[in-house]
Amino acid sequence: MIEINGLTKIYKLSAKKKKELKTNKDVKTAVSDLSLTAKPGEITGLLGPNGAGKTTTMRCVATLLSPTKGDIKVCGYDTVKDAQKVRDSICFLTNEIKLDEHFTVDYLFTFFGRLKNLDEKTIEARKKELFDTFNMNDFKDKKIEELSTGMKQKASIVVNLVNDPEVVIFDEPTSGLDIVTARVVLDYLKKLRAEGKTVIISTHIMPEAEKLCDKVAMIIGGRKVIEGTIPEVLEKTQTGDLEDAFFKLFMENKESEKEEE
Ligand SMILES: Nc1ncnc2c1ncn2[C@@H]1O[C@H](COP(=O)(O)OP(=O)(O)OP(=O)(O)O)[C@@H](O)[C@H]1O
Ligand SMILES: [Mg+2]
Repeated sequence: MIEINGLTKIYKLSAKKKKELKTNKDVKTAVSDLSLTAKPGEITGLLGPNGAGKTTTMRCVATLLSPTKGDIKVCGYDTVKDAQKVRDSICFLTNEIKLDEHFTVDYLFTFFGRLKNLDEKTIEARKKELFDTFNMNDFKDKKIEELSTGMKQKASIVVNLVNDPEVVIFDEPTSGLDIVTARVVLDYLKKLRAEGKTVIISTHIMPEAEKLCDKVAMIIGGRKVIEGTIPEVLEKTQTGDLEDAFFKLFMENKESEKEEE
């Protein structure tokens, strides 16, 4: 379970970032008073345009960033006060995570398992399950540097799932993957859901969200503009699919992006 209560995240802007964002302001409000609950046995989707605040929200949930205001509970633990307890129960995946190129997938899997204090038997059992599921057996003994981009991504997903986490936070799960690999990843997220895990993802791909998510929240300019099951969102917006709903909400709310600091 993830409970986000009134999350606000304000970044202090460095001189470099000010230049990049073309602003004179010293701060940027990336997320504004956002509340959301992601339940076990469900896949919750964070949708929104570039710069909406999806990654920032996920980083706060994963204890990488502290909220400026509000609080977040993961499996009942506060992400600031009980950060280590939260880290023990989550897996935070992004396509930015890179593995050390010098080692094999098999070696790194065992290494990460030991880092998580798992015993050797558990590590081997997890390895078998995940390597089978993600079709990794053919290249498990290859060094990361020998793998294609998609294979590297698959390897970093598998390695990070070693501890069978209760909560999986996945920023853009299929970004950069071919359709076969993307399907393997999405099917695995469905498997996690069936096992009663809490899964939260971000995506730009509306048909993907439509097929996968039990609940979605759309964020625009750091604010949640709608939340609900897919039928609820379509009903509220009087649209036929999520892409139309997204555009409608975007047109209605894009001014709020500019109002933000
Ligand atoms: N470290 C940072 N310092 C300052 N501003 C930041 C920082 N990280 C993100 N931002 C700003 O906060 C806002 C939200 O960014 P975030 O990365 O959370 O968006 P996103 O929804 O994940 O976008 P995308 O779809 O492009 O991944 C953006 O305006 C971004 O420029
Ligand atoms: Mg992002």
